[in-house]
Amino acid sequence: MKLAPDEQRMLEGKKGLANQKAMQLLVEYAEGLGAEAFVDTNNVTVLTGLFPYPDLIKKLVPSLDPDEIASKFFLNSDERVVVDRVKAFTTSHIYRNQEYPEIQQGGEFLCEVTKIMEEYCKRIGIINLATCTPYQVGNLPVKGEHCAWTESSAIPFCNSVLGGRTNIEGLHSAFASAITGKTPLWGMHLEENRLGNVIIHVEVDMNEIEDWNLIGYYVGGQIGLDIPVYRNINKTPDLTRLMALCASGAASGSTVIFHIVGVTPEALTFEAASGHGKNLRALKYGTEQRKETYEKLNHSDRDNVDIVVLGCPHYTLERVRAVANMLEGKRVHENTVLYVTTCRMIKALADSNGYTEAITKAGGLILEDTCGIFFDFDTSKVLASDSAKMVHYVPSTTGLKRLWFGTTEECINAAITGKWKGELK
Ligand code: F3S
Repeated sequence: MKLAPDEQRMLEGKKGLANQKAMQLLVEYAEGLGAEAFVDTNNVTVLTGLFPYPDLIKKLVPSLDPDEIASKFFLNSDERVVVDRVKAFTTSHIYRNQEYPEIQQGGEFLCEVTKIMEEYCKRIGIINLATCTPYQVGNLPVKGEHCAWTESSAIPFCNSVLGGRTNIEGLHSAFASAITGKTPLWGMHLEENRLGNVIIHVEVDMNEIEDWNLIGYYVGGQIGLDIPVYRNINKTPDLTRLMALCASGAASGSTVIFHIVGVTPEALTFEAASGHGKNLRALKYGTEQRKETYEKLNHSDRDNVDIVVLGCPHYTLERVRAVANMLEGKRVHENTVLYVTTCRMIKALADSNGYTEAITKAGGLILEDTCGIFFDFDTSKVLASDSAKMVHYVPSTTGLKRLWFGTTEECINAAITGKWKGELK
């Protein structure tokens, strides 16, 4: 591939070991992808808090030295590399909630590791937003901005809703981009790859957040890596609805970008979204497909609910407020737990506006920085959520088999009564 002079200097080690290791990694990655050049990026999100294999950390880095952890796990290097400062504006994905280690897989040990890595990130200039929704709290790319983002639900949000440009980056590539300020020029960075190629004819009303979860989940499962263009949407979606569409489509499939005609920035017209494409594949989304998707997501043989998890992706302030209002004067059932997950900045606002107190007073728990799919559940329990993504991943990450999916109101009702009474309206 063709390297610019500064990239060449990094590769030759003239800008220090960290830049050299990061550039080696990126060159290998870019060549594997068939990219011929890099593009500058000043917007990266990194996975510095996700350590699903605690035993591996204990074995490989018993000292828990953060530079050694970063070298081994982020830069694929047995040599200890000390990063001075990252070059790009970089924010972090989720960590662990430090207050309730016992709720999360890996318990105290992984909380300790993530705390160490949070400090490490701060030292090298990464901003610890600790969220899967960085666009809510300070990392908001603009149309055309080249980014290197991680997190399956945030990537379609960046590409589709904001018009930013990112591929699906992983732990290593994003960290290397943070250090170097470079990312391979391919995929979503190129205009011609962003055009829609499957028309989705929407034949149902799209009012509730649940509707956006269902359509995203259905379409994602049908089209994989193709790019959907949604037509005939009857209502302009708000932030929560768009987040639901992004998260569900990326969970059942690999939706990296979508267009909603008349709504998203690269879809002012159908022609603009599809590049005047002719003979595009078409998919119908009507009552039948909606029902089929709902039934796929609901699979419990018991009507009791032991656990309610809300906040996937991390809840917005509007949703936290809505939940606080729904719980007013109510009490979570003695056999049920209610968890609401969000990021630390939204939690701080929830604290200062009395929402945390309202949720806690009702017997719920609002948790910052963490994610329900890494919770430590008794696998015989029944979980309910208003997120298709949560319901999709929970069986494989926690072993839970009995799941209910529905509206936030139905989930709150389940938290209060201990019973599932949801239905598709
Ligand atoms: Fe976020 Fe976890 Fe859902 S990272 S998108 S809350 S699965």
